[in-house]
Amino acid sequence: MNVKEKEIEYVKNGKRVDGRKIDELRPIKIDVGVIDRADGSCYLEWGQNKIMAAVYGPREALPKHIQNPYRALVNYHYRMATFSVPDRKSPKPGRREMEISKVSGEALEKAIFLEKYPNTTIDVFVEILDSNAGTRVAGLAAASVALADAGIPMKDIVAAVGVGKIAGEVVLDLNKTEEDAPDAVDIPIAILPRTEEIVLLQMDGLLKLDEWKKALKMGIEGCKKVYELQKTALRKAYLEAEKEEKVKENAK
Ligand code: CDP
Repeated sequence: MNVKEKEIEYVKNGKRVDGRKIDELRPIKIDVGVIDRADGSCYLEWGQNKIMAAVYGPREALPKHIQNPYRALVNYHYRMATFSVPDRKSPKPGRREMEISKVSGEALEKAIFLEKYPNTTIDVFVEILDSNAGTRVAGLAAASVALADAGIPMKDIVAAVGVGKIAGEVVLDLNKTEEDAPDAVDIPIAILPRTEEIVLLQMDGLLKLDEWKKALKMGIEGCKKVYELQKTALRKAYLEAEKEEKVKENAK
């Protein structure tokens, strides 16, 4: 631990370094249908994180030998822009991006009715434009909204959040300063909110059993808050599209 870390009081009178309560999310803003070329898209801001997600498909899987005659394949591409972090990131996808792409794609596969689209791929692109911890869960939340925007049938929207422990306290949605705290624990979690089925769960650090139970409960509640914001954004986009349609109809 260096001197600077020692000086930070991560939780003081129930307030965190950025003034949030223990179980408070950073501000989240979601815009639907922001990329015309894509079949579905989403721009999401989550605290300082800025993320663009675009979905293409289901479309024929090529080359043909990758096709699965029983279901669609999900290709999830998580990428951090070179300018999204303080040190210039190599544009080449690294191990971290590959791992995040794999686990996030698997999480989405749990939600999509893949068997409806044999021999196809659903390509999901998630670009992190600015980052401050929690980008994999924010990316997954954006991707799920983009899938819904593309009209791809799903059991539910995947909602995701980070939960963890800093300075002995279980907290929701850690920012970068908190993630860098000594002995911090970080747990990205994603669920299908209606059934509470967990579709992504990772953990960096150690927790006691009672802390884990508290973290899981807080994570599920956090996911449900994100879910409400995702649904509100989708509803708003579709009501606006409906209105535009009506105006066009009337002008004919
Ligand atoms: O973003 P997330 O919490 O899902 O993943 P992480 O691997 O725990 O990274 C936490 C944060 O570290 C990211 O959100 C970035 O802000 C930062 N980071 C960085 O500065 N440089 C990298 N090459 C990777 C991550």
